[in-house]
Amino acid sequence: MTLPVAELEQMTAPTRVAWAVREYGAGLTFACSFGAEDMVVLDLLLGADPAASVFLLDTGRLHQETYDLIQRTRERYGRVFTVYVPHTEALQSLLDADGPNGFYRSRDARLACCRVRKVEPLARALAGKAAWLTGLRREQAVTRGALPVIERDDTHGGIAKINPLADWRNEDVWTYIHDHDLPYNALHERDFPSIGCAPCTRAVQPGEDARAGRWWWEAPEHKECGLHLKG
Ligand code: ADX
Ligand code: SF4
Repeated sequence: MTLPVAELEQMTAPTRVAWAVREYGAGLTFACSFGAEDMVVLDLLLGADPAASVFLLDTGRLHQETYDLIQRTRERYGRVFTVYVPHTEALQSLLDADGPNGFYRSRDARLACCRVRKVEPLARALAGKAAWLTGLRREQAVTRGALPVIERDDTHGGIAKINPLADWRNEDVWTYIHDHDLPYNALHERDFPSIGCAPCTRAVQPGEDARAGRWWWEAPEHKECGLHLKG
């Protein structure tokens, strides 16, 4: 199927999400990390389809504040979100080989941890789906500057990947959150614009870019964990 890239680019974010719900129905799912962008996508998606499929990749290393937010969000929307956890045996092998904090040792060790805790569970979450939504934005990182609103995801069998906030600015995200009184992660008020796993995320300093606190010991052009790499 040819994806309507130009048409979606012209639409507003709510219209893009509504279009995805109509187009893909039960074949659509949303990868929700409960970061600020994802709270917006979640609200748009559940507004269009209250029973929509939504999943979290629970790495087991998320911040307490993220788990608190998930709990509050379940209450706000009166529903549960699917959780994917790492395979026990893969996690045991990783911990045996690298230790609990082996990811600080090298980029390869870091990617191995992301593979076991996020990338493989993502493949399970997307199996059998026709399309997925993300909260990715172009402004977030040098690796995301050319992000399309919709693209073919060859890493996951050629399904559609829809990034409805691709062209939003940070201010647009926060205006929506405040206008709709959405819950959000308490860490955002402590200089964490981008939130991942606790041991791999820290607060940013004034003037630093939004993802400077993610894998802060690595170069900006390498800061992807494998969830959004091209296959
Ligand atoms: S990451 O690749 O560096 O971790 P980032 O935190 O910017 O990504 O999030 C980008 C998008 O990836 C989110 O908007 C969300 O769609 C998806 N995502 C990231 N982490 C998770 C997670 N733990 N569970 C579900 N989706 C996630
Ligand atoms: Fe492991 Fe850090 Fe990747 Fe989380 S972000 S999966 S703790 S390396």
